[in-house]
Amino acid sequence: MCGIVGYVGSRDTVTVLLESLKRLEYRGYDSAGVVVINGKGLLHEKATGNISSLETALNGGEMKGRTGLGHTRWATHGGVTRENAHPHFSCDSRVAVVHNGIVENYAELKASLSSRHVFRSGTDTEVIPHLIEEAYPECGKDPLRAIRAAMKRMHGSFALAVVFADHPDVIYVARVNCPIVLGLGDGESFLASDIAALLPYTRRVIPLEEGELARLEPSGVTVLDFDFRSKERKPLEIPWSLEMTNKGSFAHFMLKEIHEQKHTLASELIGRAEGLEGLALPDGIRRVVITACGTAWHAGLVGKLALEELARVPVDVWLASELRYADYPFGKDTLTIAVSQSGETADTLASVRLAREAGSTVLAVTNVRGSTLDREADLVVHMRCGPERGVAATKTYTSQILHMILLAMQLGRARGTLPDARHDQLKKELDLLPRRAAEILDQSEPLERCAREIAQDCSFIYIGRRYNLPTAYEGALKMKEISYLHAEGYGAGEMKHGPLALVDARMMCVAIAPEGRVTDKVVSNIQEIRARNGRVIAIGTRGDARIPAVADHVLEIPRCDELLSPVLAVIPLQLLAYHSAVKLGRNVDQPRNLAKSVTVE
Ligand code: F6R
Repeated sequence: MCGIVGYVGSRDTVTVLLESLKRLEYRGYDSAGVVVINGKGLLHEKATGNISSLETALNGGEMKGRTGLGHTRWATHGGVTRENAHPHFSCDSRVAVVHNGIVENYAELKASLSSRHVFRSGTDTEVIPHLIEEAYPECGKDPLRAIRAAMKRMHGSFALAVVFADHPDVIYVARVNCPIVLGLGDGESFLASDIAALLPYTRRVIPLEEGELARLEPSGVTVLDFDFRSKERKPLEIPWSLEMTNKGSFAHFMLKEIHEQKHTLASELIGRAEGLEGLALPDGIRRVVITACGTAWHAGLVGKLALEELARVPVDVWLASELRYADYPFGKDTLTIAVSQSGETADTLASVRLAREAGSTVLAVTNVRGSTLDREADLVVHMRCGPERGVAATKTYTSQILHMILLAMQLGRARGTLPDARHDQLKKELDLLPRRAAEILDQSEPLERCAREIAQDCSFIYIGRRYNLPTAYEGALKMKEISYLHAEGYGAGEMKHGPLALVDARMMCVAIAPEGRVTDKVVSNIQEIRARNGRVIAIGTRGDARIPAVADHVLEIPRCDELLSPVLAVIPLQLLAYHSAVKLGRNVDQPRNLAKSVTVE
């Protein structure tokens, strides 16, 4: 979490830093700061709140310089205060640092430094400039050697960018377990925690790899290993355009991204129903493990059912934060599928490293080319969603589900478990999916009405079964993360085993009941709720008379194969959460306490 940016070149540095920080704001928005180098030394400004508060604090001021760093914070160590905002400085204010990650042994380091150094913040980060300050004279005033010496004393994860008043045209960068991308321009160089921040300026990037250092100058970037040997790195050309990162005519990024599903689903499918391009799945897979966090984990749950149905292979789905501390018996015949929009989620990466060490082949499904997951996995499938800026994942979730289904089809064909007739039927259904999603999106007025009526309800329980139990989890997650209303997802068949006790007239139940093998079962579960005065919103298939008969509100989706229903059924739930949050006046794109990329444990 936290976003860091840097610029060296001849543009107005503060303008570049602010523009880039705005594109990283989804990573954290507690406080922000910038530092620039000019003839007077290091000048800085900080503010609590989001980037616009920093802009106000800068007040169109005179902070000019050719080199600068910026930071947007998601607090881990130390409260949200101006002092705790980055950059942090050495005692002599000649070294400034911005940092993403956690210095795990900071307390011990701070204790050992505090007799010789003045600390001005309560952060873990502040030990870094002081460590560099101590090492600098000992390293013959060589900045990279001083940074390396400081890093040797630190444990944890970090992406660092450092400037020295003695070296006004250089930014120094280091990476240990946190992402950082370098951008190449003409007579200028950039850095950022992710690609989105660089798009206004360049699409030629070098993602720094684990254990690399870099020196950024207007003339270009030099990448080095920890022994200061220079490394040849070929830049990547990013296929995203700047327009993709703008809101267009939508009020929020989340709403834009929900509506984009008409197009993203179609582009995911181009040329893929016969197999994911270039993806050669290993022979002899006897088991699949899916590892992911949050929304991506919900997509993994759909993946399990699809793989078990179509490829007849046993699948375990793990929260990556649990898998990394489990003693899972990975084997060489285990295919590990890691699902991650950002490709930078710390727990997902840790579980992938565990799997690879144990000899399992790792297949990544990710939206971000050049991300750590993209580079570390054995096999990769790239989602074609374009950048997602709303903190709540929407278009990437439906794409992830689609990829799970496409993988299941490909593996099913390879294993001879997917009959031609079923394959062809699914292909036809997939072709119709984007149009069906568009139908839901183009008729969203009843949804808005429903959201307006329910938004004051304080508690929701989302229920579903089979392919739509993950939809219940995901619908509840969307509601809680952006509206701050309490919402839980639960197996409809599990209500009797406890949660039914929660049901009363103040509880709103959202039942996901599209046509399929378990519709009648879910209808019975709804009846049990109504018998206890619970109110029910149901997602049902258009024309299915069973649903209006039992629900207070019905949100219809077009008829489709049950296997594809989680793609369609989640769209009304995304909209329901969105409109409820808007009605309640929430900050939809930047919900409190959250950040989009969870790059620390
Ligand atoms: C919720 C949400 C998160 C992410 C989770 C994993 O809307 O976005 O739950 O799904 O943090 O992130 P990625 O997919 O980047 O690994």
